Amino acid sequence: MGDHETHGREPLTPDGGEASAAALEAGRKLFAQECRFLLGVARLDQLPPGDLPEVAFAGRSNVGKSSLLNALTRRNTLARTSNTPGRTREINFFRLGGKSGPALRLVDLPGYGYARVSKADVARWTRLLRAYLRGRANLRRACVLVDARHGIKDSDREIMTLLDQTAVSYQVVLTKADKLKPGALERRCAEVRAAIARRVAAHPRLIATSAQTGLGIDELRAAISELAAIV
Ligand code: GTP
Ligand code: MG
Repeated sequence: MGDHETHGREPLTPDGGEASAAALEAGRKLFAQECRFLLGVARLDQLPPGDLPEVAFAGRSNVGKSSLLNALTRRNTLARTSNTPGRTREINFFRLGGKSGPALRLVDLPGYGYARVSKADVARWTRLLRAYLRGRANLRRACVLVDARHGIKDSDREIMTLLDQTAVSYQVVLTKADKLKPGALERRCAEVRAAIARRVAAHPRLIATSAQTGLGIDELRAAISELAAIV
């Protein structure tokens, strides 16, 4: 496990959900292009125009959103990561793609569920996050990141319920899969799959990833490449 050069030959995820060779190739090509930071937004009126499809990364603080973005784009420093939870305080937009070909925006969202900041800050970020998730017509999918060690928490359920209610398609992505032994990861996947089975806007395929070993990264690139626009 963890060898993300084996694409097309064996399942990359413990559920055996394998992307086709064509999808893996499309994902590889999409993410081999340039990716650059566009802007960070602290207020809704600063959002960029909705002229490109967007894929957003949501999840509890410290779940590994920024690390996953860096792994997907093969950059160590694109999105800021840290040991101090709550570091991503704005909605950060990145443009993936060149002047022609497949393109989309990757959106690094502020983490939710972090207690050690002021209530006013939490309320402000929560409002911003919810308003973005609820009202963005070009948001093609939200990746809801869940720490493989911890499973789905109440704050994840709240976000999933919001996405179900607003009919925003979302895909659950387990992070930090390297921290679990294979058997424990299997069990976690089965538990999470059962929890999302009845949610209307949830994509049925669960992808277990590790930004550290590369597990599931090709698979997630393939899934995201289906959402890109041709510019
Ligand atoms: P906020 O911006 O605060 O919401 O956090 P985030 O979700 O962006 O998390 P971030 O990527 O900053 O990662 C948080 C911590 O988890 C860092 O110390 C990372 O090195 C670690 N981490 C992230 N992904 C992985 C992974 O796949 N495996 C392991 N072992 N650690 C990881
Ligand atoms: Mg972050």
